[in-house]
Amino acid sequence: MESFPYTFIKTYIIMKKTIAFYAIIFMVLAATFFTACNNNGSQSNKNTDSESQAINTQDSMKKVLAWGEYLAVHVAACIHCHSQRDFTKYSGPVVPGTEGEGGQKFDHNELDAIPGTIYSKNITPDSATGIGSWTDAEILRAITQGIRKNGDTLFPLMPYANFNHMAKSDLLSIIAYIRTLKPIKNEVPERQLMIPISIAYPAPALQPSVDGNVAPPETDSVKYGGYLVAMAGCSDCHTPYAKGQPDFSRMMAGGNTFNVGTFKVTSANLTPDSATGIGSWTETAFLEKFYIRRDEKGYNYNPGKQNTVMPVHDFSGMTDGDLKSVYAFLGTLKPVKNLVVKYPK
Ligand code: HEC
Ligand code: HEC
Repeated sequence: MESFPYTFIKTYIIMKKTIAFYAIIFMVLAATFFTACNNNGSQSNKNTDSESQAINTQDSMKKVLAWGEYLAVHVAACIHCHSQRDFTKYSGPVVPGTEGEGGQKFDHNELDAIPGTIYSKNITPDSATGIGSWTDAEILRAITQGIRKNGDTLFPLMPYANFNHMAKSDLLSIIAYIRTLKPIKNEVPERQLMIPISIAYPAPALQPSVDGNVAPPETDSVKYGGYLVAMAGCSDCHTPYAKGQPDFSRMMAGGNTFNVGTFKVTSANLTPDSATGIGSWTETAFLEKFYIRRDEKGYNYNPGKQNTVMPVHDFSGMTDGDLKSVYAFLGTLKPVKNLVVKYPK
């Protein structure tokens, strides 16, 4: 189906030693990060008795979890891919109670570019069927480098190439949050690829370390918008594929058709071309596309034939400021003329 991070897939060489090295660096940094969180509290409060320190630690942990939830649900769409979806409703919202259990199926019938059948994994803290027994470093490696705990390479439908650009602190917040999901016992079937992963994606995609990654300042709306767009995988659905590879000379020009079975839908042209893209949309018009999905009524709008695979409900939970940044970034893309028919026959 959806996210197609062939995007940043380059050829990488697996170096086990490097991984071990990064894992150690990561653990040291993670320890520093959490210590820093704790210290922040005590610095801002001269009265460092242990009670107020405990409250401050709780406060900063709450903030980390709330931020992790915001990113995992509304921007990076982790929960949207790793849960069951209800396509009798508009944009297939997550079925409540299935958050993180995985098993969502993505296959060749839905999108030509998928060479087989792939299921999202169980990322709840269930230790038998989920990732309850994984360390933070192992989860981070899966999310940003596409390598499972057992060393297998994940198919890049899991957008680890995108997540490899994320700030380390944002990634750690997401990991902290997914550890608070309700553990669900759900054994996910193995993927079936029509070709070996080594041929589909030569040399397992070891992505660079994320240790030095920081987010651009939110005040730089174009750069921050670009950061959000990469995290949200907009390009994976909106950049057209040519022979199974994204055609970046037509970045975000739309035109990929998704066939969910009950409906077919083609991704929109998001370039600033004024005739066929969103060049003539005002910021208000752009924001409105998301705002109308913010409340429950937006779930049942024409849910039959005219549906979408875009997790627009989840994205509509982005803050107004974040959505404005996304709009600002899209406005800087090269305009591409490409007339898209949203609902093909
Ligand atoms: C576009 C859908 C999609 C999105 C978005 C997505 N994932 Fe995944 N994820 C997958 C799929 C599919 C797999 C399994 C790939 C395979 O089997 O090769 C996977 C695998 C994983 C794994 C490996 C688990 C295991 O048992 O091997 C982890 C951990 C994970 N995802 C976490 C996340 C997190 C955290 C996010 C958000 C930051 C996220 N995913 C976003 C689709 C997605
Ligand atoms: C899973 C694939 C997918 C992802 C991810 C995705 N989109 Fe879409 N998008 C679509 C499809 C399909 C359509 C056409 C159907 C519709 O209107 O939802 C679309 C339509 C749109 C439209 C046009 C709506 C209209 O009324 O013409 C906008 C704007 C848009 N997407 C923005 C975004 C942005 C911004 C992101 C990233 C934050 C994004 N999309 C991520 C698949 C996706």
